[in-house]
Amino acid sequence: MSYLSRPLDLKLNRKNFTCGKDLLDNYFRKQASQDVKRKLSACFVLIDEGSSNIAGYYTLSSNGISNSFVPDSFRKKLPRTYTSLPTILLGRFAIDKNFQGKGLGKVLLIDALKRCLDTSDTIGAFAVIVDPLDIEAERFYFKYGFMKLQDSGKMFLPMKTIKELFA
Ligand SMILES: CC(C)(COP(=O)(O)OP(=O)(O)OC[C@H]1O[C@@H](n2cnc3c(N)ncnc32)[C@H](O)[C@@H]1OP(=O)(O)O)[C@@H](O)C(=O)NCCC(=O)NCCS
Repeated sequence: MSYLSRPLDLKLNRKNFTCGKDLLDNYFRKQASQDVKRKLSACFVLIDEGSSNIAGYYTLSSNGISNSFVPDSFRKKLPRTYTSLPTILLGRFAIDKNFQGKGLGKVLLIDALKRCLDTSDTIGAFAVIVDPLDIEAERFYFKYGFMKLQDSGKMFLPMKTIKELFA
């Protein structure tokens, strides 16, 4: 089987996408394309080239976090003037139930992180931020090195770490 990631386009049938989390399904079916049009986020899909079905999707937006959320070990290496740190939010991330458990979550996460890394060459971004919906999602991100942000349900992965992954 082969899979391709590409920007969301309106020709794709999103009606049947089901990842098991209503919030993520409804967002993708009803709101994602509007958000893309309004430039609130960019949305990318993973297509099963055999069936043309959507195996997964994710969204990216520019974002900022207070430096007070970042652990001391990271903060002390940063100039104090940066009270708000530029980041990229991996806001939504899901694999359709028919495609879960086949390694595609990992494939899609790597795709998203590479896209963030490439973007950070043009627009500075200190880290990728995720906002896990629940403990299961938190465990998934934890597996790939994301760390908790203090006083926040969010998690982050420094761009420096992502760069090392692709070196
Ligand atoms: C979480 C999700 C993206 C994982 O996708 P997937 O395609 O089933 O995951 P993969 O098959 O690529 O799994 C890759 C690895 O992550 C592990 N993994 C998968 N889900 C996990 C979880 N919730 N917690 C911990 N590890 C998890 C797998 O065991 C596998 O490990 P291995 O490589 O050591 O065998 C998918 O289950 C999903 O879309 N869930 C609903 C939406 C959601 O929770 N999104 C998260 C953002 S809020």
